[in-house]
Amino acid sequence: MCGIVGYVGPRNATEVVVGGLQRLEYRGYDSAGIAIYDGEAGLQLRRSVGKLINLVNRLNREPAAGAVGIGHTRWATHGGVTEENAHPHRDASGKIVVIQNGIVENYLELKGRLIELGYTFHSQTDTEVIAHLVGHYYTEEGALEPALCRAMAELRGGNAVVALCVDEPDTILAARLGNAGGVVLGLGEGEHFVASDIPAILDYTRDLIFLEDRELARINRNGIVITTLAGAPVRREPVRIQWDPVAAAKGDHKHFMQKEIFEQPRALMDVLRGRIDQEAGTIHLEDLKLDDAALRGIERIYATACGTAWHAALVTKFIIESLARVRVEVDYASEFRYRGPILGNDALLLAISQSGETVDTLAAMEEARSQGVPSVAIVNAIGSQAARLADGGPIYLHAGPEIGVASTKAFTSMIVAGYLFALRLAQARGTLSPAEIRTHIQALLELPGKAAEVIETTSSQCEILAERYHRATDALYLGRQVNYPIALEGALKLKEISYIHAEGYPAGEMKHGPIALIDENLPVICIAPRDSIYDKMISNIEQVKARHGQVIAIGSAGDDFLASKADDTIFIPETLPLLQPVLVSIPLQIFAYHVALLRGCDVDQPRNLAKSVTVE
Ligand code: F6R
Repeated sequence: MCGIVGYVGPRNATEVVVGGLQRLEYRGYDSAGIAIYDGEAGLQLRRSVGKLINLVNRLNREPAAGAVGIGHTRWATHGGVTEENAHPHRDASGKIVVIQNGIVENYLELKGRLIELGYTFHSQTDTEVIAHLVGHYYTEEGALEPALCRAMAELRGGNAVVALCVDEPDTILAARLGNAGGVVLGLGEGEHFVASDIPAILDYTRDLIFLEDRELARINRNGIVITTLAGAPVRREPVRIQWDPVAAAKGDHKHFMQKEIFEQPRALMDVLRGRIDQEAGTIHLEDLKLDDAALRGIERIYATACGTAWHAALVTKFIIESLARVRVEVDYASEFRYRGPILGNDALLLAISQSGETVDTLAAMEEARSQGVPSVAIVNAIGSQAARLADGGPIYLHAGPEIGVASTKAFTSMIVAGYLFALRLAQARGTLSPAEIRTHIQALLELPGKAAEVIETTSSQCEILAERYHRATDALYLGRQVNYPIALEGALKLKEISYIHAEGYPAGEMKHGPIALIDENLPVICIAPRDSIYDKMISNIEQVKARHGQVIAIGSAGDDFLASKADDTIFIPETLPLLQPVLVSIPLQIFAYHVALLRGCDVDQPRNLAKSVTVE
């Protein structure tokens, strides 16, 4: 949620900060604002409601320049989408400005206290409480750092806070509490950066330090000094990020989502790269810290995630149970943490997350840690909190930055990463013979090419189908077994970017309720590749047709029988049954993309959503 950027150095901070916000806009686009300091012009605050372009237009009319600046792009939590609620927020003296990512859970209590002390509030946000609290302690301390530390000590919840004070104008302070807001510090030559996410500063530096819970960073031209909020010094070596900044740009594509769908063959290759020894017929996961004995000792896996990543967890359950014969329970991370799970000392937590910053997923990992259960994170964002919290090690997707709010390439890469993990488990536990492992390896190696074929052969058909169905008010997605989660995912993709109400259902359950929805206007997307339950899917398709539903089937190449039953059929190449979800997902993504375009929706930034969900 909310994007944060800060800069100190010789460049015009406005350009660096706004450029960084552009890279972070996927984190929230309800409003945006910056505060830039210049010795002569003083503190220049500019805020605008709506997308970042509105702020850019405002800056064209009312320019701001200076060597120090902070900026924020907002995903509204407390208070509506108004300019007053846009960050940065000022303290009562107007000298201190503050931006925040996260939620102050006790903000009402703090606000009440501050009002009693005579402070006046101009917004409904929890962030203004932080601004006044810092300002309040600043009058006692006469310095920003102790004032911010005292304020942070009173906040409950998870936050990243960045503050600037006109009396100490060469310095930005950043502080972090809990898991809700990542803070990455960027090191340059005579210039330094702070941001909530790596892409914001990747154009300027690849040497990064991640701020941890209850730490504070003092950022100025000469360097970055980190301490705990209690004042103890912290020494942390920077890490070097290898990402290509161009990978984070849209290139020739109209939308990031389109680019990321098309990137899937490459992403699927990258998740496999270096992890398969074809000669030995073995899997190697470079960051996994669990050895064969530890992998053999796992009796139960709790797979936990949110949204699309949760769908990947559902698919991964089928894969792990089938290949490695370990029981897997799948939980929404937001439910897991509050249900008092009894994990047991032979369990493993498998967290799945693109951003590695989803607060519920991180909380589930913390829960596991508190019960002494190790966790492994299937995660895309390098150095993210999930990657660092995973004491069993991260399994990186290496899919590159995913900017489109609707997850696409990360989803299919998650399934493949889960597959690799399942094979690694199977290897350690001896549940598959070497020959069987080789068969799976071969299928994995063929997958990127098949994904490219799917893009090539189904794109224009999906566009035509989108033309036909984009005025639908509802859609039903049906699948069975490992393709049931793909029905859920197809429906989620459609609803989140086109705002058409869509439901995913296990096909066999349709007759227990959803069948009542079927009429001649309802598109029903039926996932029916040739597999062990193919006949059952055919029966379900017959049931839909008998009620005059419009069937779009997704099936195996050359399946004329299926085509004779459906109104339209999208063919995908054959692969192993447990890998079909990867190929089936692609036309569903392309279909949703075109439907959203035809409905005039903002594909990359659907309403009300944000890319990294760092609030509960
Ligand atoms: C939907 C989507 C979300 C995310 C969810 C978890 O397209 O992208 O449902 O999957 O918010 O995010 P991560 O994977 O970053 O934990």
